[in-house]
Amino acid sequence: PPSSRVSLTVNGTRRTVTVDNRTSLLDLLREHLGLTGSKKGCNAGACGACTVLVDGHRVNACLTLAVRLEGAEVITIEGLAKGGELHPLQQAFIDEDAFQCGYCTPGQIVSGVGCIKEGHTGSPEEIREWMSGNICRCGCYVKIVRAVEQTAG
Ligand code: FES
Repeated sequence: PPSSRVSLTVNGTRRTVTVDNRTSLLDLLREHLGLTGSKKGCNAGACGACTVLVDGHRVNACLTLAVRLEGAEVITIEGLAKGGELHPLQQAFIDEDAFQCGYCTPGQIVSGVGCIKEGHTGSPEEIREWMSGNICRCGCYVKIVRAVEQTAG
């Protein structure tokens, strides 16, 4: 199958890879770059477990073709902590006990960071709406919303 070379920045590091043109960003991250923090739940855009930031915007990595990302800046859950310090939202998830099994957590946290950046945190209802693409089968929504709210200030 046809393949292409793509250069992008992942968590601040420039990466150049050759991938099958059908490769998703999620598979690029997990299979080619060994960044397995972003999870594959549905692989069809329905669960949000694969959420990453591309040029500051939330995307489902499972629905994004890697070859479309020439020059893009990607941030994954692995890129949020800086200098050994957790991102404030990561810390808030711990403080609020906002997870059970943890499978959806990377996507929830990256989505929450996007939600805060986008300014959709005016009320718990607004947070719930803008985080509605991230499914949690354990049902931790109340605490997830609280963690986002607390971090947004
Ligand atoms: Fe991408 Fe479910 S794995 S939305």
